Amino acid sequence: KIVVLDYGNAHNQLITRTVREFGVYSELHPHTVTAEEIKGMNAVGIILSGGAASADEAAYEIDASIFDLGIPILGVAYGSNLIANNFEGTVSASESDSDVQEVTFDGASKLFASLEGKQTVLMSKGHAVSSMPAGFTAIATDSKGEIVAFQNEDKHVYGLQFHPEAAQTENGKEILRQFVSAICEAKDSWTMKSFIDIEVEKIRAQVGDRKVLCALSGGVDSSVVATLIHRAIGDQLTCIFVDHGLLRKYEVESVVDTFTNQFHMNFIKVDAKKRFLDKLAGVTDPEQKRKIIGSEFIYVFDEESGKLEGIDFLAQGTIYADIIESGTATKEVIKSHHNVGGLPEDMDFELIEPLKALFKDEVRAVGAELGLPSEIVNRQPFPGPGLGVRVLGEITEAKLDIVREADWILREEIAKAGLDREIWQYFAILPDIRSVGVRNEKRSYDYAIGLRAVHSVDGMTADWARIPWDILEKISTRITAEVDHVNRVVYDITAKPPGTIEWE
Ligand code: XMP
Repeated sequence: KIVVLDYGNAHNQLITRTVREFGVYSELHPHTVTAEEIKGMNAVGIILSGGAASADEAAYEIDASIFDLGIPILGVAYGSNLIANNFEGTVSASESDSDVQEVTFDGASKLFASLEGKQTVLMSKGHAVSSMPAGFTAIATDSKGEIVAFQNEDKHVYGLQFHPEAAQTENGKEILRQFVSAICEAKDSWTMKSFIDIEVEKIRAQVGDRKVLCALSGGVDSSVVATLIHRAIGDQLTCIFVDHGLLRKYEVESVVDTFTNQFHMNFIKVDAKKRFLDKLAGVTDPEQKRKIIGSEFIYVFDEESGKLEGIDFLAQGTIYADIIESGTATKEVIKSHHNVGGLPEDMDFELIEPLKALFKDEVRAVGAELGLPSEIVNRQPFPGPGLGVRVLGEITEAKLDIVREADWILREEIAKAGLDREIWQYFAILPDIRSVGVRNEKRSYDYAIGLRAVHSVDGMTADWARIPWDILEKISTRITAEVDHVNRVVYDITAKPPGTIEWE
């Protein structure tokens, strides 16, 4: 395992991610971990990461005994300053900005083997090593002859003043690979299959002969968690699936079929459609709608789980991004998000979160390896409150039917055009407006459907997808022809910001 210590740079996750691509397991840890803790992690290598833009020399500390563990260490940008400081070098403000520069590598260093000569790198901003730490030698210099990388081969300690994880660094991946394979001699045995085997053993050890409950939403994370735990303990797992009536067409059928017919799980489907609709009747305020859906979900789950006996554990589909995000400074709430994971705090369960070290694409790979169907594994993001945030204004059964049908046509046509894996998220919205049209030479006064399709990486920002016009035309023609009470289709061409992805 390679342990990455987080000093705040937004791209530190990328280091972990890249190491995992080499087949070596890697974890990001807060910079406050101690040498003793690292020892307990069985680490074969340590990477001290880049700092936040505002970090100065005194900002972060390191447990200096980490340097005595005898484990190879690579310092990146801010991390290399920590090394310099520790070995009594001098770090001073650098004049150069963070930018792409050409540097000359010494190919004799194990770190740069086969990279002899000039290379383009993304230089770190801020501080530079102005006098070499004791026992270290320079292994790369910039065009002004300043030292931008250094090593102490006997101690296996290396420092880089640039970012190997950045795309702008020409052979950055190779440098990380050299560190991981040649210097740390880490074994490349991390695969999704090995992950499953290890987790299955862990779950068995943790649960013993006790029982586990899982709230299934049909989304990727909860589906993968349920399947993984089922592989480990079979019938000791019970899943509860709450059908709140706000799901898309065929979604309930697909979830029920997968988990009952394919996996034969203890599966409780709660039909709560009427309950949710009754609570939502007459409510038009978006935040109030979200709150009602969120809390109603909790009531229903609470009630159903209360009927079961002898359950000690609650399984949750927490993934790496959830942990990283909750660790950062709190941002202003733009919308109150609701996840099926948002369960009552006073529930008396121990938690099982076997996916919490995985990135989203790794979760999908685990799901595929476990035999989950592609429609679940590759499902696009879908909000917890479901179609509730896509029917603007009051939610009624009739309006849900309209948006469901229009959404289905959009999804069919996007898939037919081969764009389903290319566009991050795409869906239909039913705004609460009607307009005048003409059908069969008669005046109509009916609903408009909004279409939204966006490219995004994490949902935090997004751009609208340039769907070819002939495909949009086909979608529009089909929706107005096949969906009752729709006589107009509009396409949303707003980025996020200033828009959000969902309309409510
Ligand atoms: P917005 O609309 O905030 O959406 O730009 C960003 C991403 O989050 C999804 N979304 C949610 N996901 N619970 C969720 O799990 C929610 O309450 C929720 N609201 C929005 C949205 O679909 C998009 O992918």
